[in-house]
Amino acid sequence: MTRLKVTDCLGDNLTKPELNVAVIGATGAVGAAFLNVAEERKFPIGDLKLLASARSEGRKLEFRGETFTVHETSERELAGADLVFCSASSEVSKVWGPWCRENQVVMIDDGSAYRMDDDVPLVVPEINAGDLDHHNWIIAIPNCTTTPLVMALDAIRQVAPISRVVATTYQAVSGTGAAAIEELKNQDTMIAEGQILPDPEVYPVQIARNVLPHVDDFEEDGFTKEELKMRNETRKILHTPDLPFASTCVRVPVLYGHSEVVQVEFDSEFSISTLGEALGSYSGIIFEQDFTKYITPLEAAGRDETFVSRLRVDPSVENGILFWCVTDNLRKGAVTNAIQIGEALIERGVLGN
Ligand code: A2P
Repeated sequence: MTRLKVTDCLGDNLTKPELNVAVIGATGAVGAAFLNVAEERKFPIGDLKLLASARSEGRKLEFRGETFTVHETSERELAGADLVFCSASSEVSKVWGPWCRENQVVMIDDGSAYRMDDDVPLVVPEINAGDLDHHNWIIAIPNCTTTPLVMALDAIRQVAPISRVVATTYQAVSGTGAAAIEELKNQDTMIAEGQILPDPEVYPVQIARNVLPHVDDFEEDGFTKEELKMRNETRKILHTPDLPFASTCVRVPVLYGHSEVVQVEFDSEFSISTLGEALGSYSGIIFEQDFTKYITPLEAAGRDETFVSRLRVDPSVENGILFWCVTDNLRKGAVTNAIQIGEALIERGVLGN
């Protein structure tokens, strides 16, 4: 597996071609984060198209101090793009994915429509950038809970082979999108003002002052789609198709930042300090060694790193550990990972040559 050490942004010694970039879903929560991170990392965008549904035609958005007009997504608007970043819905990805393939345009897709397809690399550049060498124009980024988890697992498995993983998530509402952020904020305000809440529109029940063990739809085996996404994506990215894995995904009234409690088991003995060292030296992870300290979603919001803390031995199994892991779901959980993939594609000559 080829490993890539992802630097803060594209190295100055690299040629920076100007890419024509189209963002489908530019008006959404992830779309806004894409523009922020692309600007911060100086991602080499020449021509930029900001696209959404017909509802947003004519809206204005800022990028690098310039005002851009949002247009309805169409073949005409996408024509000439070198790179399409898509974060709308699986249905939208399924409309524009085939167009990108036909026109040999790279699409980095934030949705789950293509993630498990054999000819679609599912990439966290720190782990499996080498998978980018076999693409069929569509490249997927993992679910926002998978990315921090696989980074931590990849660090850990350098020290001790993993035999089982159990994860419980505490997911922010921004993972559902802009409407969910509004729903939580409105419910918070109305509760503070003593008003009676209207029926929720985004979640099945009130999210403010509540916790929902329900992310995405239920499947027949009792797991939710989100839980199965985590399992299948983890196995694909780590190239461990049989890894025993189970998770419970939970929505919490947090705006930004997904947290996870992760239990890992090994077949043989391990040294907890060596695991800590592996986590601490892994590119993109900040590891808190002091077990009395921890990182919260509020602290992780706006950051690109995955934060790991509360690493400890699990005394309930023969060889196991527990840890707490947090990342900004919109950044490393989505757009920072996507832009790092874009940077890796430039380095590999797939984009901008
Ligand atoms: P719009 O704002 O026009 O509805 P979020 O996940 O934050 O809800 O954002 C979803 C994004 O997907 C928005 O930018 C939304 O645009 C966009 N979107 C929804 N439907 C379509 C569509 N049919 N074509 C393109 N973009 C779409």
